[in-house]
Amino acid sequence: MKWIIILSLFASAYCFSNLTFTQWRLRYRVTFPSTKERRQREKIFIDTKNEIVAFNSNPNITYEKDLNPYTHLSCEEFISTRCGTKLPERLRNNPQAIVEDVLDARIAYPFGNYTSADAPDYTDFTNLMQPVQNQLSCGSCWAFSVMSQLEGLLKIKDSSFNTLLAPQFLLDCNTAQVGCIGGWPTDALSWLKTKLGGNNKAPSQLLYPYRAAVKTCRKTLSTINLDIQQVRERYLGGNEGALKAQIANFGPTIVAIYASNDFQYYSSGVFYDPTCPSGNTCLILNHAVTIVGYGTHPTYGDYWLVRNSWGSDWGEDGYIRMARNRNNNCNIACYAMFAQ
Ligand SMILES: *[C@@H]1O[C@H](CO)[C@@H](O)[C@H](O)[C@H]1NC(C)=O
Ligand SMILES: *[C@@H]1O[C@H](CO)[C@@H](O)[C@H](O)[C@H]1NC(C)=O
Ligand SMILES: *[C@@H]1O[C@H](CO)[C@@H](O)[C@H](O)[C@H]1NC(C)=O
Repeated sequence: MKWIIILSLFASAYCFSNLTFTQWRLRYRVTFPSTKERRQREKIFIDTKNEIVAFNSNPNITYEKDLNPYTHLSCEEFISTRCGTKLPERLRNNPQAIVEDVLDARIAYPFGNYTSADAPDYTDFTNLMQPVQNQLSCGSCWAFSVMSQLEGLLKIKDSSFNTLLAPQFLLDCNTAQVGCIGGWPTDALSWLKTKLGGNNKAPSQLLYPYRAAVKTCRKTLSTINLDIQQVRERYLGGNEGALKAQIANFGPTIVAIYASNDFQYYSSGVFYDPTCPSGNTCLILNHAVTIVGYGTHPTYGDYWLVRNSWGSDWGEDGYIRMARNRNNNCNIACYAMFAQ
């Protein structure tokens, strides 16, 4: 039912590719500091719009592109400022190093005890998620993905939980990460749990608003008890079956992916990019997102349901369905990270 409603929204969203530059500017309230810049941006806009129309006219595609608030930015500009995952040294030298092994009988499996063979064909945990946020022009995906997973975890434990946690707290206070240059989700989760770090507490977004830049750390605003028992990191090496079992057993899970240039224009469908790194190329990662489910589209095939942090005007209300079981496209099944 949910998807039917969302799909009908996209049918109209697709028409945005017909907007003129002026109509587009008004729709997304985009302004420019000078006429010169406006002309340059208009040129990028028109080139991109022509590319989008040509792309969408190919009957073989599994997803559609459309205009969005970022159509005036070149791919290089966009991807270099909207991602922010940095593989830590410990993994760069030894990709299979893990914080803790998740295949551990002591830990609780909130949704079942599935292997990749008996996990259900479809799961959707979007009901555990708070509204999609926007990291803006700052490589803070690592902080947003962490807070999304923790919001889900708190809602698993208490269905009345209804609060956005503050990624800005991580940007300001978890100084072992590199703010808007990038970070690594498991390391941020571990920092939150430790006494000298977040002390297992975080502030709400309301109390500690997002600023898209590193500011002064204010720990006294942390009022929400995170109750993190364990921080988990699994190296999957491209094994999408293991990732399926992970989602079915534990719910929303952070993954590091490679967001290719075409991510910028995704509007709906199942994203597949033949130029994306795939197979077992798990050192090539630039973005952190949260997987909240998976399933199969009747014509476009298997997908992962992925929550991004580029605002709800991007993609399918801020989410993207990414190709599943297509040789680890865009390195989605490399690292699974989560707190319990
Ligand atoms: C989109 O633009 C084309 C070409 O200008 C026009 O033929 C078509 O009617 C427009 N569609 C909508 C929905 O405005
Ligand atoms: C679509 O796929 C068919 C079959 O593989 C191929 O023959 C055709 O050239 C493709 N069309 C485009 C526009 O890529
Ligand atoms: C999951 O199932 C396996 C195999 O039946 C069993 O050994 C293990 O204890 C179970 N783990 C949990 C947490 O239920």
